[in-house]
Amino acid sequence: MKVSVTTLALTDLDVDLVLLPLAEDELDTVLPSLVGSIGEVMQRAADDFTGDPEEAILFYPDSARARRAALLGMGPSTKIDAERLREVGARGAELAAERKAATVALRVPKTALDAETAGQAFVEGFALASYRFLRYKTKGEEDYTGPERLVLHAAEDEKAARRGAERGRIVAEATSTARNLVNTSPHDKTPRLLARAIEKLGKKHGFEVSVWDKALIEEEKMGGLLAVNRGSQEPPVFIELTWQPEQAVNEKPVVLVGKGVVFDTGGLSLKETKDSMDFMKADMSGAAAVVGTMEALAKLDLPLYVVGLIPATDNRPGENAYVPGDVLVMHSGLTVEVLNTDAEGRLILADALSYAKTYRPELVIDLATLTGAQVVALGSEVAAAMTNAQNGAAQRLEAIEAAGRRSGDLVHPMPMHDHYAKLLESDVADLKNIGGKEAGSITAAKFLEHFVEYPWIHLDIAGPAFIHDVKPYRPKGGTGFGVRLLVDFLRDYAHPKKR
Ligand code: BES
Ligand code: MN
Ligand code: ZN
Repeated sequence: MKVSVTTLALTDLDVDLVLLPLAEDELDTVLPSLVGSIGEVMQRAADDFTGDPEEAILFYPDSARARRAALLGMGPSTKIDAERLREVGARGAELAAERKAATVALRVPKTALDAETAGQAFVEGFALASYRFLRYKTKGEEDYTGPERLVLHAAEDEKAARRGAERGRIVAEATSTARNLVNTSPHDKTPRLLARAIEKLGKKHGFEVSVWDKALIEEEKMGGLLAVNRGSQEPPVFIELTWQPEQAVNEKPVVLVGKGVVFDTGGLSLKETKDSMDFMKADMSGAAAVVGTMEALAKLDLPLYVVGLIPATDNRPGENAYVPGDVLVMHSGLTVEVLNTDAEGRLILADALSYAKTYRPELVIDLATLTGAQVVALGSEVAAAMTNAQNGAAQRLEAIEAAGRRSGDLVHPMPMHDHYAKLLESDVADLKNIGGKEAGSITAAKFLEHFVEYPWIHLDIAGPAFIHDVKPYRPKGGTGFGVRLLVDFLRDYAHPKKR
């Protein structure tokens, strides 16, 4: 989708649909002047309009060149934040899809938000709601695959609106990249195919990709990744992504680690198919978020040195599969007693986190669909955030939560007290790979903490990564959760003063 910004009069825009968002307290102020410029036909729509945030009134403008127009309610001005604008943008996209509109204009209303933030939010909401995953559809929708062009009409602060709109487009496209990877059928994203897809994306968007094969993984002694892979017909890969611009403000990188379990059957501790295994193609959503983030960083040309690490394998029962009771020697040298082969994510992440040390990173953030307990605790719209006690723990958590509030990818902290670590004590090895019935997301994080020697944020995204009910601007399936969060967090990290 092409996105642009114009200051041309609304009535001169030759588009299929013009979207006119209005706050409910603008009925007496802004609405009459709109009627004045668009024409009398709008009066009837205006008479019925209340400005309620769910509202959309479609009409045929007479004196404008646009073929349709719609008034969109935004609720009271005092409640307008970026998330509200994303939702309004999403409603506009629904109307556009219903009308099969190819070209859409949106009048950027005056709000308490700056034009840049508003432009970004509208474009994100509109573009993310227009997302369709059609790779495997052989029928229907051939004639219309979504809007081709979105024009933002910004009367004031055109430059800022343009910056925001451009960023919104980049972030929405990168989120769609992550969604595509998650929605892809497991047999089309075996570890090697996933690596190939990521190599292609690296070439297209300008970040570097290097792929380790099984022999290299063995040489590095990644005992966790190799154990999880033992039941599989497909070899594992370990993927390194690098964005290192010349103007980078940091010398040591920020490292992003994404869980890349391309399908999680549970292994010999087999999952039930229904409601448990059936959507486990999404178990590489952390990896997808890392890829999408690297795409966005490159396209935004963010002056920050960032490395992405993705351990990738499937987790299957098989003749040679790892078994409960197996003691693994991990990349770090620590030994782990496996008591449940379905707690595989932490094993592959532990190796990646331990390898991350070689970069002497400023900060490491991992994203993983790690525990069902996360979904129980926080549901499908909020991820869990944990951090280690190393310097600046509280600021780190505050910064990631703030990025969540701004971006709409919400996160909430969970505690990391020492007593939780006791649940991981093993009779035979340094630790075991499961805690107990209680606090499953925290014990998983405490497990990972053993492999971490730098400031670290762990994000358990099991709930929000993949959804079963449509949400505003998020269709069913992969959501691309984490891309908007990390882009916002890293922009702030690169220029803390600018915001
Ligand atoms: N991939 C799952 C976690 C998951 C569950 C993601 C639901 C998305 C939705 C993970 O590998 C897993 O199986 N975790 C186990 C851990 C347990 C065996 C300690 C879980 O949460 O049940
Ligand atoms: Mn599992
Ligand atoms: Zn898993």
